[in-house]
Amino acid sequence: MVEIVPLGQVADADVEALLDRAFEPGRRARVSYRIRAGMTPIAALCFGAMEAGRLAGSIQAWPASLVEDDGRAWPLVMVGPVAVDPAVQGSGIGQSLMTRMLAAAAEIGLDGAMTLIGDPEYYGRFFGFTADRTAKWTAPGPVEPRRLLARGADVPAVAGMLGPRVVAVAEPAR
Ligand SMILES: CC(C)(COP(=O)(O)OP(=O)(O)OC[C@H]1O[C@@H](n2cnc3c(N)ncnc32)[C@H](O)[C@@H]1OP(=O)(O)O)[C@@H](O)C(=O)NCCC(=O)NCCS
Repeated sequence: MVEIVPLGQVADADVEALLDRAFEPGRRARVSYRIRAGMTPIAALCFGAMEAGRLAGSIQAWPASLVEDDGRAWPLVMVGPVAVDPAVQGSGIGQSLMTRMLAAAAEIGLDGAMTLIGDPEYYGRFFGFTADRTAKWTAPGPVEPRRLLARGADVPAVAGMLGPRVVAVAEPAR
C-alpha cells in the first residue's frame, strides 16, 4: 500500500537517491533547476509516496515567476521534479502524488498559475496542463515548446522569461 506523506518527513538523502534513480545522471543541469535556482521548495506542496517503509516517489513545487521585458513579474508555482522509482513506475504513484499536490494547492489558493516542464501526453491527459498559454515564454536554457506546460486561471499568456521568484524592492524616492 502506498501512503502519501509530507516530504518534510523524509530524509533529504532519501529524496536525492530517489531522484538519482528516476532521472538521468545530469539531472542538475536541467533547465528546470535553473528556473528555481536559489529558491526553497513550498513545503505544503511537497509530498513523498511511501511503500513498505521506503520512498517510492516524490513531488516538489517551488516559487517561480515569469518576468516581462519591462520588469513586470507574474508569480508562478513551478512543479517538479515528479519522480517515481523505476521499479514501481506505472502503478499510479505519479498520479497519486500529483493529485495530492494539486488538492493541497487548491486548499491554500496556490493553484491559479502553475507550470512544469514535462510530457503533455502525461500532464495534459491526467491533470490539464497544456502549452496553450506558454508560446511566448522563454526559459534560461533550451526547452521544447510542447513540453513547457501550465495550468490555472491566472496563467499569463504574455512574453516573458521564467526564473526564480525574486521580489523586486522599489528604490526609495530621492
Ligand atoms: C513520469 C512519472 C512521474 C509518471 O509516474 P508513474 O507513477 O510512473 O505513472 P502513473 O502510474 O501515475 O501513470 C501511468 C500512466 O501514465 C502513462 N505515462 C507515464 N509516463 C508517461 C510519459 N512520460 N508520457 C506519457 N504517458 C506516460 C503510462 O503509460 C500509464 O498510462 P496507462 O494508464 O494508459 O497505461 C514517472 O514515470 C517518472 O518518475 N519518470 C521519470 C522521471 C520523469 O521523467 N519525471 C517527469 C518530469 S519532472
